[in-house]
Amino acid sequence: MTLVVRPAADEDADAIRAVLLAAFPSAAEADLVEQLAADGDLALSFVAAVDGKLVGHIAFSRMTATADGDGIPALGLAPVAVAPSHQKRGIAGRLIERGLAAANGRGAAIVFVVGDPDYYGRLGFRCESAAPFASPYAGPHFMAQWLSSPRAPASGQADYAPAFGRL
Ligand SMILES: CC(C)(COP(=O)(O)OP(=O)(O)OC[C@H]1O[C@@H](n2cnc3c(N)ncnc32)[C@H](O)[C@@H]1OP(=O)(O)O)[C@@H](O)C(=O)NCCC(=O)NCCS
Repeated sequence: MTLVVRPAADEDADAIRAVLLAAFPSAAEADLVEQLAADGDLALSFVAAVDGKLVGHIAFSRMTATADGDGIPALGLAPVAVAPSHQKRGIAGRLIERGLAAANGRGAAIVFVVGDPDYYGRLGFRCESAAPFASPYAGPHFMAQWLSSPRAPASGQADYAPAFGRL
């Protein structure tokens, strides 16, 4: 199997939608990615192709975040999807690592995610890093990873892009 992870191109839109529809039980995530793009909030979008067929996608969207009153550049990882036929081969892991490297290159200070702590913990996300940030997603599944200059604010706020409010 030849796996290629690359930035998504405009002409990938239909194949990305197909992967999201195959991976999730409803069209909500496919619609979310399209809404983020339409709103200009899709900061990073990568696809995974196996032998030329698109089988995975990851999106990072702009967030509005503050730490101790200072605005900080923040991205939200969501959604990540791999077609059921290609799961459990490390493809999501590759997409996440590539996305985090790109987020760092773009100057993001922190990336938030809502998901399984066991899985995302292996990829460097920590509940403790997200804990100071007020969010509607606050709780045991709300995690974050500092990319550069880690800090431990006493308080903060982390808001996902408006498209998440329509989920
Ligand atoms: C969640 C999801 C993206 C994971 O994709 P994936 O490509 O299967 O993920 P990975 O292969 O990187 O890791 C998944 C598991 O496979 C294991 N794995 C990774 N590489 C492996 C390999 N070569 N051989 C065997 N297992 C492997 C990982 O350790 C991990 O183990 P876990 O079951 O204990 O968590 C995918 O299952 C999916 O699209 N699900 C539906 C959508 C969803 O829920 N997305 C997340 C919320 S936005």
